[in-house]
Amino acid sequence: MTKKENVYILAIESSCDDTSAAVFCNDEILSNIVATQQVHKEYGGVVPELASRAHQQHIVPVVDQAIKKANISKSDLSAIAFTRGPGLMGSLLVGSSFAKSLSLALSLPLIEVNHMQAHLLAHFIKDKDKKKPDFPFLGVTISGGHTQIVKVTDHFEMEVIGETLDDAIGEAFDKCGKMLNLPYPAGPEIDKLSKLGDPYKFEFAKPNVKGLNFSFSGLKTSVLYFLQKQTKDNPDFIEENIEDLCASFQRKVVDILMSKLQKAVKETGINVVAIGGGVSANSGIRTALLEKQKTNHWNVFIPKFEYCTDNAAMIGIVGYLKYRKQLFTDLATASKARYAI
Ligand code: KG4
Ligand code: ZN
Repeated sequence: MTKKENVYILAIESSCDDTSAAVFCNDEILSNIVATQQVHKEYGGVVPELASRAHQQHIVPVVDQAIKKANISKSDLSAIAFTRGPGLMGSLLVGSSFAKSLSLALSLPLIEVNHMQAHLLAHFIKDKDKKKPDFPFLGVTISGGHTQIVKVTDHFEMEVIGETLDDAIGEAFDKCGKMLNLPYPAGPEIDKLSKLGDPYKFEFAKPNVKGLNFSFSGLKTSVLYFLQKQTKDNPDFIEENIEDLCASFQRKVVDILMSKLQKAVKETGINVVAIGGGVSANSGIRTALLEKQKTNHWNVFIPKFEYCTDNAAMIGIVGYLKYRKQLFTDLATASKARYAI
């Protein structure tokens, strides 16, 4: 294929606290640059106003680097894809305004992308070492903002069949991590410490939620009350038991997720399970899924680590898939803080 016949997509992601730009040649990544904002660490969570300001600072150098690393020039581009939502409005606006301005300046078509669809479609990025999931599959989006089980019948035919009624799974990791005096985001830290602890040392409450929906706020309260009681008798309780606390908490989260997935596989008759979102980096979840692959013959798809957390590569693959169908949008397309899959 000559350079002219190829489709080159510039993709921009700015829905939360990562400013990212990627360049694709068809379904293949040429570059994927991510600038993670450090400014939120001291606040123990993402501060929306600071996030949008940091996006404004990062967006130009990040896009510039992505184009340079891809070794193409702007005139090679076929279209610009951007995250329309869901996410923080101020953050989304930085990415979408930038994408719109560039499309206007370069006379290129615009492609809007749903961030949650992108987490699942990241499995279709070309990779010689990885197979792609067959339709239909169960997409599991587990991140700091979402927890969903999605029936995926085609690239753009998705139906949410289960979701959280309160906190997202990543939020549970981050909030419980805060109670355990761990730095934000606490998910990776809890995962690391879990490997050194006894997962059966402490027992936390498992919520009783009907159907395929989730709840994590009860677990959070259970951890809070337990810690309040223990630290009253021993102020050093957390420090002395941090590894066992992390391991016991992580075991419970994995248990909650796996019970619902088991139910979803049974109810839908679909045993192809593809995960996405930051929490899919979790080693306990990965191990539990691979165990299911071995014992229950699930066909499990786990993205490469760099495509689990927020990144523009997942926006780029959706951009390419939409380009093939000529699914373009225009400058009037507004960002959406809430955007159903
Ligand atoms: O997808 P993501 O990068 O951003 C959102 O769209 O939310 O996910 C970030 C979330 C955070 O809550 C973080 O604590 C969690 O993913 N996370 C993990 C791990 N790595 C990241 N949670 C558990 N174990 C991990 N290894
Ligand atoms: Zn995300």
